[in-house]
Amino acid sequence: MPCRLPGSAAARGVSFSLSKPYRPTAIAAAPLRPAVGARRGAALVVAFRGAVRRPGRSFAPDQLHVERALGSGSYGEVFKGQLDVHGTAQPVVLKRVKSRVQDGEEMGEMEVLMNVHAAKSAARAVAPYLGFCDVPAGAAAPGGLSPGLWLLWRYEGCKTLASYLGRRDGLRALASDLGVPEALVVPVALRQVLSNLAVLHASGLIHRDVKPLNLVVAENDRRLKLIDLGSCADLRSGVNFHPQEYILDPMYAPPEQYVLPTDSPHLARSLLGQAMSPLLWARHQPDRFDSWSAGVVLLCLALPHLRTDAGLSRFLSEFEAAQYDLDAWRARCKWVAPRDFAPLDADGGAGWEVARGLLRPRNIRVAPDGHVAFLAGGGARWPARLSAAEALRQRFFKLAAQRERAYRAGGDAALAAALGQAAAPAGAAAAPAAGKERPARGGGTGGVASAERKPSLAAR
Ligand SMILES: Nc1ncnc2c1ncn2[C@@H]1O[C@H](COP(=O)(O)OP(=O)(O)OP(=O)(O)O)[C@@H](O)[C@H]1O
Ligand SMILES: [Mg+2]
Repeated sequence: MPCRLPGSAAARGVSFSLSKPYRPTAIAAAPLRPAVGARRGAALVVAFRGAVRRPGRSFAPDQLHVERALGSGSYGEVFKGQLDVHGTAQPVVLKRVKSRVQDGEEMGEMEVLMNVHAAKSAARAVAPYLGFCDVPAGAAAPGGLSPGLWLLWRYEGCKTLASYLGRRDGLRALASDLGVPEALVVPVALRQVLSNLAVLHASGLIHRDVKPLNLVVAENDRRLKLIDLGSCADLRSGVNFHPQEYILDPMYAPPEQYVLPTDSPHLARSLLGQAMSPLLWARHQPDRFDSWSAGVVLLCLALPHLRTDAGLSRFLSEFEAAQYDLDAWRARCKWVAPRDFAPLDADGGAGWEVARGLLRPRNIRVAPDGHVAFLAGGGARWPARLSAAEALRQRFFKLAAQRERAYRAGGDAALAAALGQAAAPAGAAAAPAAGKERPARGGGTGGVASAERKPSLAAR
């Protein structure tokens, strides 16, 4: 079945066959080949449909009213609406599973499970999930709801990170909405993204679709939160995880494409598989999938040229050609002005060091049958990609946290003092001071929701 891939490719009407998934990169010796077919979480859903009551709060159709469309994704359509609870209306986001999407029903059930889990164990990191509404087939459609499963979240505000990155004054507007000075907005925003990921990962969830369109600025909390858990995998229980399936937006997904080697057990299918989950996690570090996406988000925040689909695609292909050596890419890059690197180069290249740490390729091997193995470390040649929690300990964020606190406590004067104390030496923007990593070798956007890129579900 042809699968329209997200982003500019989709916008240009380019389609890709599922049997030949788009692979922007190859870091292993052997070429990637189609592997075995797979369907998303099918086994679990069969069980789910049979006997288990859907978890979470249920709302009646007459409590809901659809107002306007926010976006349309690979299997869902998203609307802003109102929820009436005992006569009090509250703005909500409503997501409907598209009726004619293959496996759409299962994907909706998976998204419910992921949201219920995240609301319990990672509430801070995600937009609050409120519950669901089942509109029976053939029922009159009160409030504009069509039959099917609807999911509900609190409406957090009208802007995603993509909305800011699509604006000329994006960082200034983001800084103002987050309540921080513009000089701090890059580390502050990325710190929020990484903190969300660290909480999610600690609860066993991998988001698998981290990108500016899936980061909403929560107006009340003045912070970025993750949305769109449709691609999220729970690697403790195996819910929404299939070893041979990858779900990705090629602009933001890492080169290895998978969260675990493709010969990993189907965790959801057996207790033994679930018992192995901590071992698999420790050995293969599946959370590093999201780390890479956060690294791409960092570069988009810092480098205006990378905020368009064309710019990001160009970076990704040059980065691949440089064998994922960020310093080598930068040394050859002529189209990003040296001054644009300033936010990453300040304080002796503190931000550049984080970008390097998040955007390291993994040491993988692709077998002739397409199976992907994750190889154990390789010392200096394959330094491990940072986890979200490790990245947060880098000095880029410590300084930002100190300065943010000073700013919030004492306003501009305190910030100026804090900035003065730790100001970068003159000329620090020219080049990062941190030690250069060895190149990793091997064979192996902005805008509004209606124009968004879609993650693709590819089954091999
Ligand atoms: N809680 C929320 N508060 C405010 N806006 C939201 C919220 N959730 C989603 N949105 C808006 O709706 C858009 C689409 O939502 P979401 O990313 O969940 O679905 P999608 O990507 O369109 O669908 P799919 O799950 O099929 O990929 C977001 O980009 C954002 O603009
Ligand atoms: Mg989305």
